[in-house]
Amino acid sequence: MNTVLELKGISKIFAGTPVLDNIDLAFKSGELHALVGENGAGKSTLIKIISGVYHQEAGKVYLNGKEVHFATPNSAQKAGISTLFQEIQEIPEMTVAENVFLGREPRYKNSPIVDTKQLKSEAEKLVKRLGLNIDVSTKMRELPVSSRKMVEIARAMNHQASVVIMDEPTANLNAEEMAALFRMIDELKKNRTTIIYISHRMNEVFSLADRVTVLRDGKLIATLNNDQYDEKSLIALMIGRELTDLYPEREHSIKEVVLEVKNLSLGEHFKNVSFDVHKGEVLGLAGLDASGANAVTKTIFGLCGKPEGKVFLNGAELDIVNPSTSIKQGMAFLTEDRKTQGLFLNQNMVNNFTISALAKVFSNRAFMKKKKERLESNKMVDKLQIKTAGLHTRLSELSGGNQQKVMLGRWMLDRYKVLIMEEPTRGVDVGAKSEIYYHINKLAEAGLAVIMYSTEMPELLGMCDRILVFSGGELKAALSKEEATQESIMQHALVR
Ligand SMILES: Nc1ncnc2c1ncn2[C@@H]1O[C@H](COP(=O)(O)OP(=O)(O)OP(=O)(O)O)[C@@H](O)[C@H]1O
Ligand SMILES: [Mg+2]
Repeated sequence: MNTVLELKGISKIFAGTPVLDNIDLAFKSGELHALVGENGAGKSTLIKIISGVYHQEAGKVYLNGKEVHFATPNSAQKAGISTLFQEIQEIPEMTVAENVFLGREPRYKNSPIVDTKQLKSEAEKLVKRLGLNIDVSTKMRELPVSSRKMVEIARAMNHQASVVIMDEPTANLNAEEMAALFRMIDELKKNRTTIIYISHRMNEVFSLADRVTVLRDGKLIATLNNDQYDEKSLIALMIGRELTDLYPEREHSIKEVVLEVKNLSLGEHFKNVSFDVHKGEVLGLAGLDASGANAVTKTIFGLCGKPEGKVFLNGAELDIVNPSTSIKQGMAFLTEDRKTQGLFLNQNMVNNFTISALAKVFSNRAFMKKKKERLESNKMVDKLQIKTAGLHTRLSELSGGNQQKVMLGRWMLDRYKVLIMEEPTRGVDVGAKSEIYYHINKLAEAGLAVIMYSTEMPELLGMCDRILVFSGGELKAALSKEEATQESIMQHALVR
C-alpha cells in the first residue's frame, strides 16, 4: 500500500515539557489506523500537528511525498486532511447548516454573499445521506451533545479528503449514532480514504483498525497489524503494566434508603418513574436514545425545572428548583457535557476543583482558604493521578481524560448524600478508568448513594448493584447484579 501521510522525527514541547518525542509514523492509503494510549500520551497533540493547530519543535510532515507546513486547520483541509477534534468546535448560536459549512459557505456567483437557500438544501442533502435525523435550521445550542457531535462528523465527512482524522468520535454518541458513524467509515474506506482513529474503547479498535500505533508518554511504543495483538497485550503496551481488575471489588450490604423517587414525570420525556437508591449502593441507569434514563438524572438534579411527582432525600421532600439548590440539599452531579456545562477551561485546576465546594468546605478567611484549597487540590491530583504541570495549569491545557478526572475530583472534595454521574469515564483511558472505579467504590463504601447513567454497558455491568432499564420514557425493569447482562438490558431497552 502507498504511504499517504508520513511523520518523521516529530517532537513537541509544552512549557518546557516534552509531549512528543521523535515520532516516526507512516499512514497508508485506505487504511484505518488507530492511535491508542493513556490520557496525556500525546495522541491529540500529534493529530493537531498534522492538522495545523500546533506546530512541532522538530520533525517533518509529508503528504504524498511532499513536505507540508499547515499554518491553520483550514489550510490542512484544503490539502485534503479533514479533522474531527476531540472537543466540539462549533458556534452554538448558528444553525446546523451554517456550522456544517462554516468557512466554505456556498455563495452567489461572483459575490461574497452567502446563498442561504443553497446552504440549507446542501446541508439537508448531506444530513440525509449520512442517515441523520436532524433539522438543519435548528441552532446548535438547542441540540443535545450527541447530535452536536454528529453535526461535526458530518462536517468532517463533507470534504473530498484523502485523510480523515477522528479524535474520539464516539465519546458522545448513542447506539444509533454510532451505527451511523460506522456506516460513514465504511463509505470512506471504500473510497480508499485513510482514517486516523483515536479511541479509548478497545472494542472499536478491535473491530475497525487495520493497524494500531501505541503512544506512551509521548513516545511511539509500537505499530502493529491487527493480527499482532489482543486486548490484554495492547492494554499492557498502553499502560506499561498488566491490568488485573478493571472493576475492583466493593463491600456491599443493603442499607437504608437515601433517595426515594415517586411517580416522577417530565412532559414527554418520562412518566411515572419510581425507584429507591440505598446508602452505599451504585445504581445504574440504562437505555437507548430518548429512553428517559438520562432525562431522569438531569431532572432529579434540577436541570429541567420542576417535575411532577416527588423525590425524598433521607425522608424529607427534595425541593427541585435548580442545580444550586440541589447542591445545597446534598446532591452532587457529574455532567456528560464537560465543555459547556462542566469545566471552566480558562481557569486553573484549583478553581475548577473547588467551585462547588467553596461555601461548605473552605473557611471564609481568604488566607486560610487559599492554603486549604491548594492543599486539597494537590491531594486530589495525587489521588486521581492527574497528569499536569501543576495547580496553576489552565484546564484547557490538560488532555481530555485528565479534564474528566478534574470534574470527578470536584465532587470528591465535599460530602454529599447522593452523587449522580453521567458517563463518568468518558474519554478516560483503561488504567485511569480502573482508578476512577476504585474511587467511586470508596465513595459508596463511605455511605454515598451513587446513581450512574452510562452508555457503556460493560461499565454498568461491572460497577452497579442494580440496573434500571428505561425505554420510551418508562422504567421497564430493575435488574439485580445477577440478572443483568448485555442481553437482558437490551431486551428491556428495546421494548416500547
Ligand atoms: N495547549 C497545551 N498547553 C500545554 N500543555 C498541553 C497543551 N495541550 C496538551 N498539553 C499537554 O500535552 C500532553 C499530551 O496531551 P494530549 O492532549 O495530546 O493527550 P491525549 O493522548 O490526547 O490524551 P487523552 O486521551 O486524555 O485525550 C498532556 O500532558 C497535556 O497536559
Ligand atoms: Mg486527546
